[in-house]
Amino acid sequence: MAIERTLSIIKPDATRRNLTGRINAALEAAGLCIIAQKRLQLTRGQAEAFYAVHRERGFFHDLVNFMISGPVVVQVLEGEGAVARNREVMGATDPAKAAEGTIRKLFAESIEANSVHGSDSAENAATEIGFFFAAIEIVG
Ligand code: CMP
Repeated sequence: MAIERTLSIIKPDATRRNLTGRINAALEAAGLCIIAQKRLQLTRGQAEAFYAVHRERGFFHDLVNFMISGPVVVQVLEGEGAVARNREVMGATDPAKAAEGTIRKLFAESIEANSVHGSDSAENAATEIGFFFAAIEIVG
C-alpha cells in the first residue's frame, strides 16, 4: 500500500479534557507519523467552511457550535494507507458502535463530541490538508 497523508482534528471535547498527548500516542502506535500540527480556535466561518459538505444535514448547526466551543488541534498524518489506517484507529463515528481499543471507544463522549475527525478519502484529505496547512508547514 502507498504512503498517504490524511487530515486529523482533535476536537474540543478532547482538548478540554487534556487528551491531546494520549490521542497522539494512539496515532503514533498505529504507525502514523504526525508531520504537521497546530492548535487553533476556529471561527464560525471557518468551521462552516470546513464542514460545508454537511450543511444540509440536521446536525450541521450543532456540529459547528461544538467545533467552535474550544480549541482544536489540526494535524497531517503520514503513513502506509494513512486515510484508512487513521479511520481504523479512530473507530466508528458513533462511539457506541466503535470497536474496543479505538480512540472513539476510549475517549468520545457522543456522536457529536467524538474526539477526532479524519478524512474519508485520499481526495478529501488533500482538500482538507490544504484548508489548514501551507506546504511549508508540512515536514514529512
Ligand atoms: P466527523 O468525522 O468530524 O464528520 C462530521 C461530524 O458530524 C461527525 O464526525 C460527527 O462528529 C458529527 N455528527 C453529529 N451528529 C451526527 C450524526 N447524526 N451523524 C453523523 N455525524 C454526526
